[in-house]
Amino acid sequence: MILIQFTGLSGSGKTTLAENVRSLLLQNGYKVAVVDGDVYRKTICKDLGFSKEDRCENVRRIFNVGRDFVDAKTIVLMSVINPYENLRNEIRAYHFVRTVFLDCFLHNLIQRDPKGLYKKAMLPDHDPNKIKNFTGISDVFETPANTDLILKTDSETISFSTNKLYHFIIDNLTQTV
Ligand code: ADX
Repeated sequence: MILIQFTGLSGSGKTTLAENVRSLLLQNGYKVAVVDGDVYRKTICKDLGFSKEDRCENVRRIFNVGRDFVDAKTIVLMSVINPYENLRNEIRAYHFVRTVFLDCFLHNLIQRDPKGLYKKAMLPDHDPNKIKNFTGISDVFETPANTDLILKTDSETISFSTNKLYHFIIDNLTQTV
């Protein structure tokens, strides 16, 4: 079995890629689950914010959900920003985990900004709509030193990245049994 721990800034394509790869795996008869920060932050992680402690707790809880799926012989795509190297390394020590970095230039993310979050993160301090501690702007994203796959989601097409990740998963499935 395999659990993909994504890491990448907001807007780098984690959710899109996870959903695309999920469809492809399903079409080919695999059991697959996406565990997404945006979803779990509304349920089992509702009490958590964006401090270092809370982000780590968030990723840990979501990883635990992922482990249950792995136990049920399901491929897992764990879609979270996952900004800290130590925690990523702790998770990648599990033999069934592979780390996939969605690498994007910040200036492209700021330009695209489909959810308008970067704009809000860059508002002046006194503005009530400002998002504080926003990853990449006013909070840390530690560039991963240890990855199994890097997808340049701002220069590759979505279908290219989807296919690359799909084949990576298939190639790694047998090694992670
Ligand atoms: S993580 O840091 O704990 O891994 P997670 O992936 O669950 O983050 O949540 C990130 C999502 O929360 C973003 O895609 C964005 O929609 C939203 N968000 C709200 N506030 C912040 C913030 N301060 N920093 C980053 N993302 C934020």
